[in-house]
Amino acid sequence: MNVRIAGTGSALPGKILTNTELEQLVDTSDEWITTRTGIKERRIAVEGEYTSTFAAEAGRRAMEMAGVHPEEIDLIILGTVTPDFPFPSTACIVQDLLGATNATAFDLSAACSGFIFGLSIAEKYIRSGAARKILVIGAEVLSRIVDWQDRNTCVLFGDGAGAVVLEASDGDHSLLSTHTFSNGSYWNLLYQPGSGSRNPATNSRTIDERLIYLKMEGNDVFKHAVRSMEEAAVKALDANGLSASDLTLMIPHQANRRIIDATAKRLGLGADRLFTNLEKYGNTSSASIPIALDEANRQGLLKPDNKLLVVAFGGGFTYGSALINW
Ligand code: ACO
Repeated sequence: MNVRIAGTGSALPGKILTNTELEQLVDTSDEWITTRTGIKERRIAVEGEYTSTFAAEAGRRAMEMAGVHPEEIDLIILGTVTPDFPFPSTACIVQDLLGATNATAFDLSAACSGFIFGLSIAEKYIRSGAARKILVIGAEVLSRIVDWQDRNTCVLFGDGAGAVVLEASDGDHSLLSTHTFSNGSYWNLLYQPGSGSRNPATNSRTIDERLIYLKMEGNDVFKHAVRSMEEAAVKALDANGLSASDLTLMIPHQANRRIIDATAKRLGLGADRLFTNLEKYGNTSSASIPIALDEANRQGLLKPDNKLLVVAFGGGFTYGSALINW
């Protein structure tokens, strides 16, 4: 049984926050952010907009493209580190919003690799015959866990969601492989210390010491990101007997232009075969790859039998790749 991507969708907040506007919030400059990250602006959720808002809309658009009705969905997997609530899962809220009454729904915590981990689980459900149509979503409202007083991190992130419908298929236009990896030795280089069981949100220290916000050792994360994304990409190519020159397009996690360029250089991939949109959205964690995939798809950049590689890295550390014959 093969597994194909039958539809893609994405949804972003309407509110734009530019680098110039950020200059009013913290001691930074458009020039610093642009040269160090490639980011020019990001989308920010407003009051009344939640992770489920964007996740459901991205899912609806993916189902519309796939020509699939909500009741046909067997499973909803939602990668996020910014769920609507600690529980129930945001996937259950999305199930309700979409009317996907026959789906099992759960969230998946793999930070920026959440979408690829979701693809990998969905692939196995379909290949085993346990499901035929699956919605895999990456969705975040990172603006609600970013410390808007910390210039080291607040300039990097944005909000949004992307989704795909995966379905069982007999054809060759399919997901060729998925690979996932974790390295828990570095869990504390990129994390949100507060609001879980170690530093509960109810503890005044959590608030006073700003533990509620995302913390990151940027330089260390940068080095691991480049090495790990290269490793995940090579694993995918080797598993399929392909080399980088066979790829039509690579869609990397949209964290930082310099991470993307360094990874591509190690793989010997030219800029013409990289898809990036981080200048518009910043790092949207688990949403970054499915948003980019939807944009590339709707721009007509993907043709039948094109070889597409998606590769991610994130907190945990987690990393992974997927190779698709479009
Ligand atoms: N504006 C102005 N100056 C800043 C800013 C800012 N927004 N942020 C940091 N600086 C200053 C620092 O304080 C430091 O000043 P100092 O020398 O006086 O101490 C100086 O800039 C250099 O700081 P570095 O951290 O060395 O800058 P670097 O070139 O490494 O860039 C960055 C920092 C962009 C965070 C980089 O390390 C990076 O991209 N790391 C990867 C992290 C990432 O993308 N994480 C996302 C999550 S993981 C993932 O998705 C892959």
